[in-house]
Amino acid sequence: MWEYLLISAISGLIAFKLALILYRRRKYPEPHYEWGNIDLDEISFPDNFLWGAATAAHQIEGNLSNNWTAHEEKKNLEKSGEACNHWNLWKDDFQMLTDLGLTSYRFSIEWSRLEPEEGSWNNDALDVYSQMIDDLISRGIRPTVTLHHFSHPVWWEEKGGFADENNLNDFLNYSERVFDALSDRVDVWCTINEPTVFSTMGYTLGQFPPGKRSIRLTLKVMRNLMRGHAMVYRLLKSKRPDVRIGIAKNVTLFDPLNRWSPIDWPVSRLLDWLWNGAWRKGIMTGKMLFAKIPEAKDSLDFVGLNYYTHFLTGLFMPTSTEELEFAKRSHEVATEFGYPMYAEGFRRAIEFIAPLNVPIEITENGVADAQDSLRPEHLKRHLWIISEAIKDGYDIRSYHHWSLMDNFEWAEGYSMRFGLHEVDFNTQERTLRQSGELYRSIIRNSTSK
Ligand code: GAL
Repeated sequence: MWEYLLISAISGLIAFKLALILYRRRKYPEPHYEWGNIDLDEISFPDNFLWGAATAAHQIEGNLSNNWTAHEEKKNLEKSGEACNHWNLWKDDFQMLTDLGLTSYRFSIEWSRLEPEEGSWNNDALDVYSQMIDDLISRGIRPTVTLHHFSHPVWWEEKGGFADENNLNDFLNYSERVFDALSDRVDVWCTINEPTVFSTMGYTLGQFPPGKRSIRLTLKVMRNLMRGHAMVYRLLKSKRPDVRIGIAKNVTLFDPLNRWSPIDWPVSRLLDWLWNGAWRKGIMTGKMLFAKIPEAKDSLDFVGLNYYTHFLTGLFMPTSTEELEFAKRSHEVATEFGYPMYAEGFRRAIEFIAPLNVPIEITENGVADAQDSLRPEHLKRHLWIISEAIKDGYDIRSYHHWSLMDNFEWAEGYSMRFGLHEVDFNTQERTLRQSGELYRSIIRNSTSK
């Protein structure tokens, strides 16, 4: 009799436990940490870890004329205009890097400055970039240069930009020219920033230039971005095999809003495949989205990871950004952009790119937060994730916070404030935010150990 009771009690317990697991999984199908139980100050980084911040030319330099300014005009968006007037204030801005204690700075070169008309080159502008690089090096800061961060000349856009494979030679010529001028001092290069964001925002959602909405074109652009990256990689490596060339890949995670929904799950898998999986396969196998791109295979010396959030997918996925309404779990905090802060996903993104088997550089991570109320916690959680991942053996070499200062946030204009420094766009005054102070002290503690 007592055996019978014991077996019933144990089976009851197991059934209860199982039900609990299933219930919890229903609520949070993806990993979720109890942050309150984690000591976020328990972090450590290797001595040679690089601390950085990231920017992009169109978002900070000011007074440009490129595909983006044309798009701002055409779509009646907020104008980038003077932006942070960084083209004139760069020396002061670089002092902010020094004051933070940074050892790497990721920025991009503006193609439209260097080749405003097809075939006519502005060497004075190239010289300014060259001076920037000298200045960074004199400060002990590694220049980390991106060749294409969403913007390019109008004449190239008019030829079809990345939508036409025949145009890739122009991108290659531009890249070679920059490389010839700067590679005696720049050892780390990103060819292209966020190929999937560029292609989906420009060709599916139509929110970025050229404002098109075509799945066929999106897939074409995705493949051409991979081809363009691979061409640049091969040429530059043949010129200087010792430089390190990578790409900045935005890994956004897609999780089903409802775990048991027959729709949410396949939607999440499909989007994850298009956004992340197809790209990784392209680099690992030279095959991408039904095309053979053999030169893409193993075309990375490092992978740049940009991580911001996860998207919860369901039946009603947006087809334009006006419709974008981000779902979040009840325990998650929404950032000002609308999407949730989900630091757990940073670890998953690291695990996702690890099979590429090259060192990882975190090329972007940050949060829109004008009041700086979320950024300190955001920073601490994400740095803790990196610290743990390094302890677990992942080869992560650097962290670049997005961004050094508030800047022109593309289709959102100046409404989204990502800066460690607040910028007053009337006076161009920069003020270090509390999170900037926090970042500085974390760097100081980590480097003085
Ligand atoms: C990235 C992009 C950056 C910046 C950031 C913040 O996708 O590379 O330029 O805008 O998002 O939203």
